[in-house]
Amino acid sequence: MPKIFFLPHKKICPNGLIIESKKNENLLDIAHRNNIKIENACKKSCICTTCHCIIHKGSNSLSNIKENEDNILNKAWGLEIKSRLSCQIKINNRDLVIEIPMYNINYINEY
Ligand code: FES
Repeated sequence: MPKIFFLPHKKICPNGLIIESKKNENLLDIAHRNNIKIENACKKSCICTTCHCIIHKGSNSLSNIKENEDNILNKAWGLEIKSRLSCQIKINNRDLVIEIPMYNINYINEY
């Protein structure tokens, strides 16, 4: 089973956490099930960027980014080359190292 290592985040996961997951599970669902409260203002509709995360290891194993994710992701705070929206990610069979950015932007509230 792939392991997911959430790096420490001051508010959401101060000590970091390693979680075992199953293939095809959604990353945001895994985080929530393990009490890592990544925001999800649009309830996984891919329009808010509050679930932005950075995949430091294992990004090549993930489901491909789709056009709608790519479009909204480009507006995320702290965007990096390995940024993804956790609500759009399905786990594959490789371990991941995940950073939750310090800030996010909620585009639902911005309009
Ligand atoms: S929960 Fe809104 S984009 Fe992921």
